[in-house]
Amino acid sequence: MPIVNAKEMLLTATAEKYAVGAFNVTNFIQMKAVVETAIHKQSPVIIQTSVTPSKFRGPDVFAAVFKTMAREAPVPICLHVDHCNEVDYCITCADAGYTNVMIDASQHEFAENIRQTKMVVDYCHARNISVEGELGTVSGVEDQVVVAEDEAQLCDPDLAVEFVDQTGIDLLAPAIGTAHGVYKTTTPKLDFDRLATIAQKINGSGPHTPLVIHGGTGLSDDTVRKLVSLGGSKFNVSTELKHCLLDTTYDYIAANRSGYDPGKVDRAILEAISGVVSKWMELLGSAGRA
Ligand code: 13P
Repeated sequence: MPIVNAKEMLLTATAEKYAVGAFNVTNFIQMKAVVETAIHKQSPVIIQTSVTPSKFRGPDVFAAVFKTMAREAPVPICLHVDHCNEVDYCITCADAGYTNVMIDASQHEFAENIRQTKMVVDYCHARNISVEGELGTVSGVEDQVVVAEDEAQLCDPDLAVEFVDQTGIDLLAPAIGTAHGVYKTTTPKLDFDRLATIAQKINGSGPHTPLVIHGGTGLSDDTVRKLVSLGGSKFNVSTELKHCLLDTTYDYIAANRSGYDPGKVDRAILEAISGVVSKWMELLGSAGRA
């Protein structure tokens, strides 16, 4: 069964110490590139949509195209709505056919974050849909979620245990210093010890709640490998794919100004996105695991 929720695939990744790439897409060429690359690399994969493109194209449309592309794929694939900060829209995506939902209530007080997250968990678990929650806040811009660098709060390891216990979430995104968007420095300050402590407290006696690393774009390969070795098993990549999509489009059109052949632009995008996704699957260690 190629279409799955994220929990099972990530429990396996946690146990075997690799990570599954979670790639944000805004259109169906990108989605096709991710699905085809996962098949080619024999890798499990998570396709994500942020809230704005999901609303723009329609969650039913995204889910229907996903199902059509993924149902024959011989690898496990999940469709995830990313950083959704509205309980109602999480439910809309669950009903539309998304197989994993992120409720991001991390900008609220702890008790309110628990309350909203649990509402989504209760709804989704009755439908075999897994849920990601966030504790602490990731700086930068991810769609409608904007957090200033000096306002970002890292995840408290003891509260993380309480958050997991009280909400029943399937995946936890702990803020550990990674950021959405392009890093302003080549050596961003990441709290590796904090991730190690959280991983030990939550998954130390066996995989329980896989951990999600946000802000993949711009991290060095060594940093990515370290975050995976310390327990990150879902790795989010968005900005790199957006840049790839737009740079490829600009470059193709600039080089073929009199071409007027949209199919060739699509083909160029497909190949470029496949290259990026393929690189990440090798780096995360998910290639060959499906
Ligand atoms: P980047 O845009 O920095 O790759 O982060 C992606 C992300 O974490 C999406 O949730």
